[in-house]
Formats: sequence, structure tokens, C-alpha cells
Amino acid sequence: MISVTFTVNGKTVTVGTSPTRTLLDLLREELGLTGTKEGCGKGECGACTVLLDGKAVTSCLVLAAQLEGREVLTVEGLASDRIGKALQDSCVESGAVQCGYCIPGFLMAARALLQENPHPTLDEIKEGLSGNLCRCTGYAKIFDGVRLAVRRLAK
Ligand code: FES
Ligand code: FES
Repeated sequence: MISVTFTVNGKTVTVGTSPTRTLLDLLREELGLTGTKEGCGKGECGACTVLLDGKAVTSCLVLAAQLEGREVLTVEGLASDRIGKALQDSCVESGAVQCGYCIPGFLMAARALLQENPHPTLDEIKEGLSGNLCRCTGYAKIFDGVRLAVRRLAK
């Protein structure tokens, strides 16, 4: 067991855990942050995407031992974040949410993209979200949602 202290959505947390436990498990099972979803569990679907020190990562591949002093942002933290809130609202209004299982991961990947590139082209949006899979929407409405957020944030 190790004790690890890190920040989640602006709040400092300390957890006792096996060093090989995943960030995904810690978020969902120790911290009650179930907005982050598990899909494949092996880094291929993007459902578990969160931001780690501002970069999008698949939390199923991040281990507890890597978290000391790091900053994590999850989908629960987006409502109080200007870019994140715009993305959430725009995706809902664009009909991007069907079953919704993939959406937290898409929102986090889009949040990271817009932080780095506030005015992405459609191709850049597709590239930025290429690590995230959706089995329901055909992706077009998700891209529409991100583009609507980009337009709103530019005002
Ligand atoms: S659950 Fe982590 S990438 Fe699929
Ligand atoms: S909305 Fe169902 S998997 Fe994307």
C-alpha cells in the first residue's frame, strides 16, 4: 500500500491504495466520481478520459503510483469551467448525446483540445477526438457540438 496525495477538480485528496490501482478505479470507487466511464479498460476507447496536468489521458492506464502531486480534472469539474460548460451545453443542444456512455470522455478530450487550440478546424476536431469511440451517434453531432462551443467561446 502507498499513500498518494493529488488534486481532483481543485480539491486535494489523499488515498491509501495499491500502487498499481488505476486512476479510473480510484475516481469511481474511492472518490465516488462515477462520471468517468470504463469501456475497454485497456486504452482503446477513450471512455475513461480525464485531464492530468491539463493533458488528456486514458485513466484506465494511469496508475496510483504516478499521481503524487498531480492535478486531475474529471467531467464532474467541467460545470465550473468556462470551456467545459460551453462544451457540455453545446453538445446537449446539438443532439450529441444518445446513450451518453462515451460523452464524458469526449468532453474531456475536447476540453484539452480547446485549451491548446481555441479555434480548431473540423479536421483538427476530428483528429483531437480520434482516440474516443462512440457506437451510437456516427460522430457528426459530437463534432457539431464542439464546433458550436468554439463559436460561442469566440464571442
Ligand atoms: S476504458 Fe480506458 S480507454 Fe477504454
Ligand atoms: S452516445 Fe452512445 S456510445 Fe456515444
